[in-house]
Amino acid sequence: MQTIPVSLGERSYDIVVEAGISAALGDRLRKLGASKKVCVVTDRHVARHYLERTVRSLRKAGFEPDSVVLPPGEQAKTLATAARILDALAKHKFERSSTLIALGGGVVGDVTGFAAAVYQRGIPFVQVPTTLVAQVDSSVGGKTGVDHRLGKNLIGAFHQPKAVFVDPDTLRTLPRREWVAGLAEVIKYGIIADERFFAFLEGAMPALLKLEDDAVIRAITRSCEIKAQVVADDERESDRRRILNYGHTIGHALESLSGYRGLIHGEAVGIGLAQEADLAVHLGFCEGDVAARIRDLVQRAALQAEMPKASFASLWGAMQHDKKVVGGKVIGVWPVRIGEVVMRPLEKPACADWYRGLWRRKADGSTRSQSLQRRGRRSTGLRGR
Ligand SMILES: NC(=O)c1ccc[n+]([C@@H]2O[C@H](COP(=O)([O-])OP(=O)(O)OC[C@H]3O[C@@H](n4cnc5c(N)ncnc54)[C@H](O)[C@@H]3O)[C@@H](O)[C@H]2O)c1
Ligand SMILES: [Zn+2]
Repeated sequence: MQTIPVSLGERSYDIVVEAGISAALGDRLRKLGASKKVCVVTDRHVARHYLERTVRSLRKAGFEPDSVVLPPGEQAKTLATAARILDALAKHKFERSSTLIALGGGVVGDVTGFAAAVYQRGIPFVQVPTTLVAQVDSSVGGKTGVDHRLGKNLIGAFHQPKAVFVDPDTLRTLPRREWVAGLAEVIKYGIIADERFFAFLEGAMPALLKLEDDAVIRAITRSCEIKAQVVADDERESDRRRILNYGHTIGHALESLSGYRGLIHGEAVGIGLAQEADLAVHLGFCEGDVAARIRDLVQRAALQAEMPKASFASLWGAMQHDKKVVGGKVIGVWPVRIGEVVMRPLEKPACADWYRGLWRRKADGSTRSQSLQRRGRRSTGLRGR
């Protein structure tokens, strides 16, 4: 068992990482001093695997659990869904001391946290994250919210959980695509804060892709430690917390250009990690070997690093809709070396220049590789028909 404290004064809490902890939730909640009335919010996929045993564990520990099962996916992260949870709380006469339990991925965590933030102006909630993204990122830090038709996460509140219970065993039922996408966030922590952790990931990537326990637990705990530290330094993202946005300037833009259907969040962030490093080299923040190492690790995690085709106008336009824009300027996060980043505004002409160069290099590269292929075919006698 590993316990990682998130130090936020009277809002402090622990992240507890332990295999099997989700099946012993009742005991954990009792130790937290939660009152009897609790409500488990989850989604259909997660409910299928984990709801019954969670409810059983709560009953055994003397709680009176209700549950709300949401449809899965980002489409459910709406005010209407939050209202459904609030309806259930009101109907079952939940009080200020009643506790909400978010059992699921980032979508369940964000919407449940938001309902907990606004029901009777705030009731306690705990996070039981079941995706890698949720275990290393969304369950920690107190950002809660829902999407609006005109933008992702437009409506929300800061509301810290009372505890985060991370059960790595739940990742075994996670679809592989979701698992791999979460690795992008894990790699991000190495880039922004810890060269040794990045080097560990370089070595352990095959083990991580095979979900080997030791590698998985180390990846989760170190990621949580880094997130906890950054959040403790800057709870409300006035400054330093923005380093967590590394890879997300381009990542979010690609995610919104693909209409939240093509690329899932972590996949878009994987491209963002590699491409923002390339842009950092262009802007003179770091050397090419830093970007090469980042791109290499992204690819070794079975994530795409290449920029998908999009016009610069649409990409730049999508970057403007982000919360990383302050006073009309896109604030970029740039690696100076692995483990250290700086924050500086990104100017449109410099970005356009990089983007043109990127495609020019690609075109040169493909012409070169086509001619090499032609030469290779000739030398092996495999001439095209
Ligand atoms: N609050 C924050 O600080 C923060 C940070 C990062 C991301 N987010 C948010 O998190 C959301 C993405 O979260 P996500 O990637 O966890 O996606 P998600 O919650 O949609 O889960 C992905 C899919 O996996 C399924 N699933 C979850 N756990 C499972 C398990 N153990 N076994 C089988 N299936 C399982 C879900 O039903 C869903 O279909 C986005 O809305 C994003 O904005 C928030
Ligand atoms: Zn992210």
